[in-house]
This record gives sequence, C-alpha cells and structure tokens, in this order.
Amino acid sequence: MVGWKAPSNIALVKYWGKKTGQIPQNPSLSLTLSDAYTETTIAYEAKSTSDNALQIEFYFEGKKNPKFEEKIKTYFSILIQELPFISNYKFHIQSINSFPHSSGIASSASSMASIALCLMSIYEDVEKLKLNDIEFFQRASYLARLGSGSASRSVFGGFSLWGKTALLAESSDEFAIPYNQNIHKVFTQLRLAVLLVSAKEKEVSSSQGHALMHQHPFAQARFEQANNNLEKLMAILSSGNINAFFELIENEALSLHAMMMTSHPSFVLLKPNSLKIIELIRLNRREKSLEIGFTIDAGANIHLLYFEDQKKAVHEFIRNELLPFCEDKLWIDDKLGHGPTRIENI
Ligand code: PMV
Repeated sequence: MVGWKAPSNIALVKYWGKKTGQIPQNPSLSLTLSDAYTETTIAYEAKSTSDNALQIEFYFEGKKNPKFEEKIKTYFSILIQELPFISNYKFHIQSINSFPHSSGIASSASSMASIALCLMSIYEDVEKLKLNDIEFFQRASYLARLGSGSASRSVFGGFSLWGKTALLAESSDEFAIPYNQNIHKVFTQLRLAVLLVSAKEKEVSSSQGHALMHQHPFAQARFEQANNNLEKLMAILSSGNINAFFELIENEALSLHAMMMTSHPSFVLLKPNSLKIIELIRLNRREKSLEIGFTIDAGANIHLLYFEDQKKAVHEFIRNELLPFCEDKLWIDDKLGHGPTRIENI
C-alpha cells in the first residue's frame, strides 16, 4: 500500500484553452496551498488471472463512489500506455479531502496529483527501481496532467509553472516545474482566504470551458495576454512589487471570466455577491491601505490574497465586511504551502 497527500493550487496566470492530449494553449503559474489537500492511499495486488479488464475500487471519504470510480477507470485506461503494469494489478483506492466536498473548492488538482504520486510509488515498487526526486516529481506531474491539466502544478510546493515559455528553457507543455528561484521574500509570506460565495457545483465543467476557447473570437489575444502577463509576473515576483502583483492577478482572473462571458454559448459564473466582494477588496485596498487583492477560479468564489504580517487586520476585514456576502458565512483560510508529502506507516 502507498499513500500521498497532495495540496490544491490556484493559478495566478490562468490556463484556459487546450490542444489535444491536455496540452495548454498558454503557460500558467500557480501557488500551491497548504491546508486544502487530498490524501489518497492505494492498495495494490497482482491479478490472479490474465484478464485485461481494469480492476479498480474507489472509496471517497470512506464510501464507495461509483461516479468517481468511473472517472478513475477512464484515467487509468489512458495511463496504461505510460505504466503498462496497470493492466496486471488490481487497485483499491481510498481518498479524502481536507476541505468539504461541496465547498466550491476544485478538488481535481489535489486528487489527481495524489493519485499520480501514488502510481509513481507503485511503479518504483513493481519495477524495483528508485528514481531521483527530480525524475520522480517530473513524471508524477506528467501523469497528473493527463488527469487534469491544473493537477500537474500540484506536485510541487511554493510556485509552479506549467507550459512552454521562451522565458525558461526547462519549461514544458508536458509537465510543470517548480518556480521558486528569484522569488522576493515578501511573496513567500502570501496567504489566501477563500470566500465561499457559492458552494454549489459549477454549472459548466472546466472541460466544456476549455473547449469553448476553440471558436472564441478573442482566443489568440487571450493566449498572447497570458504570455505577456507571465513575463510581467515573473519580474514582479522577483522585484517584490506588491501593487503591480495585485493589479496583474486581478487582470488575469477577470480576463478568465471575460472569456467565459463572451464565448458561444456564453456563461457567467460570478454572482452578485462575488462582485460585491471584489468591490470591497478594492475599496479597502485604496482607502485603508490593506495589502489585499484577489484571484478567481472557474467559479463564483473569491480568493483573497494577503500577507502574513497583516493577518489580524485582514481577518477582521473578512469577518466584518465580507462574510455577509458568503454562503452561510463560510470561508477557508490557507497559505502558500510546501507541496506534497508521502504518507508513511500505512
Ligand atoms: O485543470 P482543469 O482542466 O480543471 O482547468 C483548470 C482551469 C482553471 O482552474 C480555471 C485555471 C487554472 O490554470 O487552474
């Protein structure tokens, strides 16, 4: 049996639009969270027959989950090409999330990353080999990408970069790489609060959203913008310019939603309360000199970014001004994390 705990991540420069084989149309850069994670354990055993059918059981939070099991079967069938041992083994998978399932936090990144990491550990065991850390995590990122693009970025701590860019020779469309050099110390103190505007499942899946970028009238301009924003963000992360940081990540978040609103068919994931929160964040930044800004995933929740040294003031601001706009006054507090860890003694 093997086990891995993998964190969720949130993109600052967004991935929206892909080519066949889960290849991104533009590079993305994310920050890895700390307390929002998935823990997965996989028990595996050689099959007693030469039957090639996949034998996978999937339990989510202690209960057999047929819907997820189907998704995992599809994922494993894609991976057979990469990891042929999958056909010769049966798997019993148990997964739990540290955050509530209906919290509106996307769990595909952390869950796919934890499964990919488990598969890499199983691979080392059945093939009787030991990869070095760079090979191990690079391959895990590659496998995670085949499950969910953003999951490729969840196998590293700090900041991660996924997608080929001329700015960094080691970057690749096939896997993410850690991006932790040249980071000003101010950005190592980043914290993130998820303001739960809506805990409902998204009406439009991210695969549908990516697909709508194929015919999108602004697609080329968007991919160019993301490349330019990546270059700017790299410079900002090394210089420590906080104002420029917030301006850039907000531009990325709103551009992502602008793509959704202007696609055919169009869809709007932001709710009136999302806009209210955005307004209050900007107002308090301007008038109370709080160092705060936001990013948004493919949903209605607002992810407020701030820094460790203003934690007290920001929590007060959240409690007094933002919680009235959150569903059941729910929010989740998190921070920049160190990346996945192997679960020992299971
Ligand atoms: O990994 P996917 O296919 O669920 O796409 C994720 C897309 C965004 O979360 C909106 C942006 C990103 O870069 O994570």
